Amino acid sequence: MLTSAFPTVDLCHKPTPLERLDNLSGDFQTNIWIKRDDCTGLAFGGNKTRQLEYYIGHAKSLGADTLLTTGAIQSNQVRMTVAAARKMDMEVEVQLEHRVDRDQVEYHESGNPFLVKLMGAKIHYYAAGEDEDGADQVLFERAEVLKSEGRKPYVIALSNAGSPYGALGYVEAAEEILLQLKTIKIIPARFVLPTGSASTHAGLLLGLRASGCNIPVDGICVRRDRQRQQQRVLTKIQSAAKLMNCEIDIRLDDILCDDRFLAPGYGILNAPALAAIKLMAKREGILLDPTYSGKAFAALIDCIENGNYGMEDHLVFLHTGGAPSLFGYPELVAE
Ligand SMILES: Cc1ncc(COP(=O)(O)O)c(C=O)c1O
Repeated sequence: MLTSAFPTVDLCHKPTPLERLDNLSGDFQTNIWIKRDDCTGLAFGGNKTRQLEYYIGHAKSLGADTLLTTGAIQSNQVRMTVAAARKMDMEVEVQLEHRVDRDQVEYHESGNPFLVKLMGAKIHYYAAGEDEDGADQVLFERAEVLKSEGRKPYVIALSNAGSPYGALGYVEAAEEILLQLKTIKIIPARFVLPTGSASTHAGLLLGLRASGCNIPVDGICVRRDRQRQQQRVLTKIQSAAKLMNCEIDIRLDDILCDDRFLAPGYGILNAPALAAIKLMAKREGILLDPTYSGKAFAALIDCIENGNYGMEDHLVFLHTGGAPSLFGYPELVAE
């Protein structure tokens, strides 16, 4: 395994299933596969479980006893960090940012923030809007206070200056997927996934390319425009490759980012995502989310509708989870 030199903790149900979506494949007359990383375990699952195995492995190797992280009110990262801390018997403090302009009480009280409270994390609030560096800065300041009190904090920062340990979880996932594809004997035309902090996209791309696989990976932007996201993924790949001592050269033109499904912005539902969420729920009984997987699946549908895919083709959607946040968007079922 490419990442076997790194310490990890055991949080994830692996391998997650790689399944064919039979109903939607029939509807669209092509083969749509779904990698069920919404089923990674740990308090409703999602992509962060794989990342946390490496973050916490690193944290434990440094003797840390407390995790800190930051995210939007409906952050899955925050929910899963709290769950992982609980499983590892660690203390945990989280910061919820006012990143998305939504007043609905459900957004602030249901879904992820509800679960975070249920698992008993200490919660701080960050009142400024979209401000990644500012939010991280406050987290590091809080870590200093904890240190002065004798605790050993470990910060999982979200800005790109943050460590690349999370990406290692998806380098490992790439190897897992390649093995599954070999077993079922298919070579997909492309992978599609949401791309945000970039750990998932960077890790998967690095893992595939380092394993000699050149299948395109479409990253669907959920937080920033295409150019900025591409650069971010590149930086993350470079820092993860350096950490792994891996000499691979991944160029900017191999980092595919599509921002057509981002508007009006992070955490705000749009018509294609709404349609994609409903379609997946009604045709497959699988739950997507408004911020990440809904937008990414909308892009996959667009790709099929505008591409030249037929019954001999295979597309793989990486379902990164996020369904708890559905409860923060009651308009999804408004008539
Ligand atoms: C459900 C879900 N999907 C995708 C992503 C994006 O993953 P990454 O931050 O590794 O780019 C996130 C990040 O929070 C997420 O919660």
